[in-house]
Amino acid sequence: MMNFYVMTLFPEMVMGGLNNSIIKRAMEKELISIQAVNIRDYTLDKHNKVDDYPFGGGAGMLMQAQPVYDCYKAVLEMCPNDEKKPRVLYMSPQGKTFNQEMAKELAKEEYLIFLCGHYEGIDQRVLDKMEVEEVSIGDYVLTGGEFPAMVMIDTISRLVPGVLNNDDSAVEESFSGKLLEYPQYTRPEIWEDMAVPPVLMSGHHKNIEKWRLEMAIENTKQKRPDLYEEYLKESEE
Ligand code: ADE
Repeated sequence: MMNFYVMTLFPEMVMGGLNNSIIKRAMEKELISIQAVNIRDYTLDKHNKVDDYPFGGGAGMLMQAQPVYDCYKAVLEMCPNDEKKPRVLYMSPQGKTFNQEMAKELAKEEYLIFLCGHYEGIDQRVLDKMEVEEVSIGDYVLTGGEFPAMVMIDTISRLVPGVLNNDDSAVEESFSGKLLEYPQYTRPEIWEDMAVPPVLMSGHHKNIEKWRLEMAIENTKQKRPDLYEEYLKESEE
């Protein structure tokens, strides 16, 4: 069972984005749980304020330490995790770039806490105190950490056993091996004068496998020459 906690100012955005399709079914089957916790609920400010101007000046507003830290303490209470402190992932374009390998590592955890910033960032002291791990989803800048948290939760969830129908589809796909996927076809056999490659209609499983591997190699060579080079190196070994 994987338990995700998302600390955010926009809990509806996170839950709305994730409560669909495969992830929704995974929650219903209790293979994963997702709880979005509103940082604003923990502010002690009488006007519910959670941000303020940066000391030393500069553009924009910063999230204050107090509501973030009190929210964090509340989330820790929600994870009955005595043995070890759950990892806290702070969504930030300055972090280590998320990839499939990181997803596989994170999928082994039982509890993961995501911290979503908004505005220009978060007071550094609370990030230090919480010992966050900074993670980016790519070299571009979003307005907040909510989409990155959703991207990561979606990616990690499909690696949790039972979440996908097909046991090995999570392992077989692009990026798990060094090759991209082969093209696929479904009914009808002829569409807009285009036929399905005949080998797929032959029922000859050995030939189908061989064709798929060839197509995967060709696909990778065309679309991702960098991965193709890695594949070549690995198949020489
Ligand atoms: N917040 C803003 N941009 C981000 C990014 N690229 N990855 C993670 N968090 C972010």
